Amino acid sequence: MTLEQRLPVVVLISGSGTNLQAIIDRAGTDLPIEIRAVISNRPGVFGLQRAESAGIETAVLDHKTFADRESYDLALIELIDSYQPELVALAGFMRILTPAFVRHYAGRLFNIHPSLLPKYRGLHTHQRALDAGDSLHGATIHFVTEELDGGPLIVQAQVPVQPEDDADRLAERVLQKEHQIYPLAIRWFAEERLKLDEEGHVKLDDKCLQGPVVYADHEPIG
Ligand code: GAR
Repeated sequence: MTLEQRLPVVVLISGSGTNLQAIIDRAGTDLPIEIRAVISNRPGVFGLQRAESAGIETAVLDHKTFADRESYDLALIELIDSYQPELVALAGFMRILTPAFVRHYAGRLFNIHPSLLPKYRGLHTHQRALDAGDSLHGATIHFVTEELDGGPLIVQAQVPVQPEDDADRLAERVLQKEHQIYPLAIRWFAEERLKLDEEGHVKLDDKCLQGPVVYADHEPIG
């Protein structure tokens, strides 16, 4: 896909939206995507302001106004599909998704998670890495499947743990890397170089990945 043929994307957030900002910044230059909408499950979060400042349509679908997870996810599907995206990017969207939702977007649903998956699914990943005495921590972009934080891995960035780190310091350095690898994975997908095949294998440039691509700082993004 060229910059003239932009991949339609919807981004889902729940909070501050720094990953969203990294994607917006690249979409304004060399990332061949069009962010059709940013949707939050929480009203008033800063990520919505970031989208509005960039002239991107926003919507809030507050999970607290729904009786259960199933009815929320059905409404979310309807809202997302009204924008006809070819990729849905979860960027700090802090909800467990129903199988029906995940199946609906099979092969076109990305998530970012602040750990070197399969380590530390769920919450408090930075503290858990510190408690375990890990020397390497990081972040992962993966295709979403029905397993929480468990889908096929696309790309990881590693962050060495420093002796003086606490969870906040470590989180800050991991976040900087997140902002590099999310646009990279989206670029590969938009350029049709990245796919999830029917057997659930991640293919990059027609080759099955045996594990995630490990992103290094010296690599050009894209
Ligand atoms: C990011 O660290 C992201 O990896 C994490 O939420 C944060 C959102 O930050 N996502 C998860 O934990 C998903 N399981 P942001 O709103 O500044 O992009």
